[in-house]
Amino acid sequence: MFIKNIGRLVTMVPSKGREGLLGVIKNAFIEIKEGKIKRFGENFLIPPNPPLEKGGEGGFLDARGCVVIPGLIDCHTHLVHAGDRSDEFALRARGASYEDIAKAGGGIMSTVKATRAAGEDELLKLAAERAKEALSYGLTTIEVKSGYGLDLETEIKILRVVKKLGPLTKQDFIPTFLGAHAIPKDKERRKYIQEIIEEMLPAVAKEKLAVFCDVFVENIAFSAREAEQILKAAKGHGMGLKIHADQLSSNGGAALAAKLNAVSADHLENVTGEDIAAMAKKKVTAVLIPSSTFFVGGRYADARGMIKSGINVAISTDYNPGTSPILNIWLAANMAVTQLHMTMEEVYKGITVNAARAISIDATHGTVETGKHADLVLLNCKSESEPVYRPDKSFVDKVIKNGEVIYEKS
Ligand code: NIG
Ligand code: FE
Repeated sequence: MFIKNIGRLVTMVPSKGREGLLGVIKNAFIEIKEGKIKRFGENFLIPPNPPLEKGGEGGFLDARGCVVIPGLIDCHTHLVHAGDRSDEFALRARGASYEDIAKAGGGIMSTVKATRAAGEDELLKLAAERAKEALSYGLTTIEVKSGYGLDLETEIKILRVVKKLGPLTKQDFIPTFLGAHAIPKDKERRKYIQEIIEEMLPAVAKEKLAVFCDVFVENIAFSAREAEQILKAAKGHGMGLKIHADQLSSNGGAALAAKLNAVSADHLENVTGEDIAAMAKKKVTAVLIPSSTFFVGGRYADARGMIKSGINVAISTDYNPGTSPILNIWLAANMAVTQLHMTMEEVYKGITVNAARAISIDATHGTVETGKHADLVLLNCKSESEPVYRPDKSFVDKVIKNGEVIYEKS
């Protein structure tokens, strides 16, 4: 397939002859073969008789001046769950804090209750609806965590749902096991940690249900020492490591991410300067989530400090029913500019290449380069800044996954 008449092709690879840090090529084309990018460049470089121009059918796509960007990647979501938490939102509107609600048995545990009660088909239906909504924003790859089961049966049920999503929506879903999301109310903490290590991790690994293992390191969840035991066991099963780190308070999560060479440390609103330095040294990607601060309050992560230290910063929605019930990555991108004071270039990296880094797919995704997967978003606007500037308006005209149009604005 040829995509021609691209107004601005945002390659995310700056190099000679291209405009700015986003590596923009004006008036461009892309040739796709077998789902991968074969070549790209300025329109006038299109071979004189591309095979399908005359017949047209299936082979030629006129971008009509659209901006084309790499398929967007949300590298941190909790997409699979039942129920919602609008009732708790109403309680918070009257002054209750996120932690108060969690301590009173609400919060994560209320979603756990709903998710345990839901059948696999129901969960799949709910998650597929959310995935399709995410697709309408241009998300071609989504990392999805378990963590609303907190028992073997439900954690496995959630991860099986993640596996079934891809064939349904044609996006890629990267599964992460987050059994260590909270201590279930009915269990003793040492016993639960033992259960994660001795029963859940082996079962998840045996069925190849997770690429990564994540732990919520926080006062209301797991200590860094407990997380270390769990993550070391996960590493033994060949999983990559992630940590929900220093979100509500400073708890050594980021330091542990550095120590264990985790792929990413996520949240980081309360990370210390020392731990930022440790992350930079070990090249741990920071996944920042401005929407969760926007939603629950507290401080925003120090994106500028991290970028200055040389850390690769990704931006994610952290879609979940408790702290960030949003699927719109453009809203997160807008907050990265307005609240985290990131530049447009940094934000675009955050939702493409650096998001790919955060889930270890940067060799194959996240930029427009020869040989990479042809995951692309056509934006009906004049400049790539526009959808970040106006996140409430939909600019996404088409989404292409592995060379196939999988979303078209109706
Ligand atoms: O990423 N921090 C922990 N986990 C989620 C929130 C989960 C919930 O409240 O349901 C998060 O913010
Ligand atoms: Fe999260």
